[in-house]
Amino acid sequence: MKTPVDIAVTGAAGQISYSLLFRLAAGELLGADQPIVLRLLEITPAMSALAGVVMELKDCAYPLLHKIVVTDNPKVAFDGVDYAFLVGAKPRKQGMLRSDLLQQNAEIFAVQGRALNEVASRQVKVLVTGNPANTNALIAVNNAPDLAPECFTSMMMLDHTRAVSQLSEKCGVRSTEIKNVMVWGNHSCTQYPDLHHAKVKGVDALELVENSWFVDEFMPTVQNRGTEVIKARGQSSAASAANAAIGHMRAWVCGTAPGDWVSMAVPSDGSYGIAEGLMYSFPVTVTGGRIDIVRGLDISDFSRARLRLNEAELKEERESIKHLL
Ligand code: NAD
Ligand code: LMR
Repeated sequence: MKTPVDIAVTGAAGQISYSLLFRLAAGELLGADQPIVLRLLEITPAMSALAGVVMELKDCAYPLLHKIVVTDNPKVAFDGVDYAFLVGAKPRKQGMLRSDLLQQNAEIFAVQGRALNEVASRQVKVLVTGNPANTNALIAVNNAPDLAPECFTSMMMLDHTRAVSQLSEKCGVRSTEIKNVMVWGNHSCTQYPDLHHAKVKGVDALELVENSWFVDEFMPTVQNRGTEVIKARGQSSAASAANAAIGHMRAWVCGTAPGDWVSMAVPSDGSYGIAEGLMYSFPVTVTGGRIDIVRGLDISDFSRARLRLNEAELKEERESIKHLL
């Protein structure tokens, strides 16, 4: 039996966690031979709801679920953790932009960044999902000076899978036959889902679809999908977000498929002229747990303008929370 691995999940009584926790406990992240300890963080008023979730987790009798720790103290939740899913934060409601959440949620990520800094494993893999995810992750990185910035990422995988799904439906192929889709920038409606390097069964996607479909249908559908889900469901995406969180972490742990990449927001190293340090989504490959930004891609003027727009938006968000950095 392998030694159990500690996984922290914040916002553990919330919607996303209600899907995420059960999949983690079933072994979908680390495989069928890896026991886990779930370390669940909530705010004090949500502890009784969390107790119900814990009862349900126990009722599943998952063979891999070695132990559950429940707490409202971030330092207990993150003690020695190898993985941290930072989900807990307010979701937006209809009519709001994700950036409207910034002032309400920002402080959470300063506190949690400091706690991770103190007690998490030095190799911890942190995924920020709570919105606005990129800037929340920026706050967490800046409050964890003793951890490598590479420990921190934020989630663009849902945008990535939304883009893959739209293209596979349009072309009538399975999602596995699509490669090299990417979503650049910010997890906001400014994000740039880009097909310039995408392949469908090895053929350039932009040779198979009309440019008008790419610009007037594909891009806005992916950019506004979160808003449309909220309109339809009355609540923000949850199961698909949990799926993306597992997909993001699995790519980080197991690596990306040969010849393919995924979209992740990581600390910019200046690639493609994006200001260093911003949490910006790039196409990335992962090998042996190391995330590398895909370099040297040709960027058209059309694309460059959209990359810049995202950079400007993230700089604006950074300015509005600079007191927390
Ligand atoms: P939810 O309201 O159902 O759950 C959030 C939970 O977080 C609540 O139980 C709340 O008590 C808890 N929480 C609040 N502050 C906390 C803190 N300081 N520490 C620990 N827990 C805390 O919301 P949800 O639908 O699960 O969504 C969670 C977040 O994820 C939202 O910000 C949402 O906008 C975001 N989201 C991001 C993506 C993405 O692609 N990045 C996708 C979907 C949702
Ligand atoms: C999403 O993209 O579905 C999430 O970020 C939730 C939202 O507010 O849109």
